[in-house]
Amino acid sequence: METKYLYINTIGCQMNVYDSEQIARGLKSLQYEMTPFLEKADLIIVNTCAIREKAEQKVFSFLGRLAGLKKKRPDLIIGVGGCVAQQEGAKILERAPYLDLVFGTNAIDRLPGAIQAILSKKCRIVDIEMSDQIKELDFVTNEVDKGEVSRFVTIMQGCDNYCTYCVVPYVRGRETSRDPKNIINEIHRLVESGVREVTLLGQNVNSYGMKEGLCTFPELLRRINDIDGLLRIRFTTSHPKDLSENLIHAFKDLYKLCHHIHLPIQSGSNRILKRMNRKYTREIYLEKVDKLRNTCPDIAITSDIIVGFPGETKTDFQETLDLIKTVKFDGLFAFKYSDRPNASAARFVGKILKNEKKQRLQQVLDLQDQFTTRKNKTLKDSIQLVLVEGFSKKQNQINKQNISQDVQWTGRTSTNKIVNFYNSDDTDSCTKNVMGRLVNVRILQTFSHSLWGETNGKEPTSFDLRGEKSYVA
Ligand code: SAH
Ligand code: SF4
Ligand code: F3S
Repeated sequence: METKYLYINTIGCQMNVYDSEQIARGLKSLQYEMTPFLEKADLIIVNTCAIREKAEQKVFSFLGRLAGLKKKRPDLIIGVGGCVAQQEGAKILERAPYLDLVFGTNAIDRLPGAIQAILSKKCRIVDIEMSDQIKELDFVTNEVDKGEVSRFVTIMQGCDNYCTYCVVPYVRGRETSRDPKNIINEIHRLVESGVREVTLLGQNVNSYGMKEGLCTFPELLRRINDIDGLLRIRFTTSHPKDLSENLIHAFKDLYKLCHHIHLPIQSGSNRILKRMNRKYTREIYLEKVDKLRNTCPDIAITSDIIVGFPGETKTDFQETLDLIKTVKFDGLFAFKYSDRPNASAARFVGKILKNEKKQRLQQVLDLQDQFTTRKNKTLKDSIQLVLVEGFSKKQNQINKQNISQDVQWTGRTSTNKIVNFYNSDDTDSCTKNVMGRLVNVRILQTFSHSLWGETNGKEPTSFDLRGEKSYVA
């Protein structure tokens, strides 16, 4: 069979990134190879996000660009998958008549069959059937592109929490956990292909396995921690209401578990948290932050904030600012509240004006910037253990221009801070290539969103890996 080309545009969260990888692997069975060039593609897949209005607009503006391409090449196949596809179904075909396929978040395993049907019958397909059972994809072979050091692994799908602003339960379905055996096997295969770090994905990893009576999340972490060859484990997202003592202790007990937790607070006001249906108070949140820091003193804590939720008064907003000052997060993602047609808050009274939301967002970002910069500054002259993920952006530019000079690498600390650095070890080219290795980097300069340093490329000792002793490069 002749090779055909597949272009995927992935919009949205890490779950969509993972799904796009599965889509690409599934379509390999039909001889589709990935291309980075839209014009070269025989099949274009848009993997969409519905979390905020802006994400949805991005989808439709990209689809608009495809109309002309289809006109020029009528045999081009265009498919829309992901959360907007799930939400809108056949309506997308009406809005963009040049599309061939709409497939939902539970239809990835049926995608190769749908493409075959479109090719042979020249039909249009809508498949948004949901299921509360996880279909393990038999075409998932987890082939890893050479040099991929870090990969996402989805451990559960859907969400049962129904936060009043959120579309996820409607577009991703009921919360369902994957069997730990399948997760462990997948990670084994990734490690065999050279992957050294996995990030476990779920909307609320703390409730992993509960409904099905599988193992708990901390138990799953323990089993993954035992996988030889794997160096680091991360996970996201943790719902504060379900953050358990056992999970907090895992940060101390499991040496591969990175010292970072993303713990979205959403608002600092108890009144708003209640209207959001978050099921915790600011006091409970602060207590959990204290426990995390007492158990794992260098843990980095990041969070999500929504500003301008319906009914958010100036006093409520002030409480959010006050909470940010109290916790001093390592990083923050802040969003202007956006109505989602399916989510109940869309029907709440007390909508906040666009301009007011914009101002509140800016205030949050400005405040957080001070903390991020200050936290990074404290790392100057320290030695950080970095897992090297590849060339830095600057190096990629240099590679394009073909200028030879010392290679600049990039990686992250256990606390998830980006470090760009030189390897000053020039003994031989073998040790100079530090890709996929844990190296000690001395931090020479700090910026607001990254660190800059130098290493001599030495492997850290096993003590460093356990964080018990710091090693000076
Ligand atoms: N499961 C995760 C969140 C996934 S969505 C959790 O519970 O934390 C990622 C973030 O998008 C949310 O944390 C929230 O801050 C933001 N978000 C979700 N719906 C939104 C909406 N309607 N408007 C603005 N931000 C929203
Ligand atoms: Fe959305 Fe809440 Fe579920 Fe997170 S926990 S995905 S915010 S409903
Ligand atoms: Fe967006 Fe769907 Fe993720 S709505 S944030 S792509 S789960």
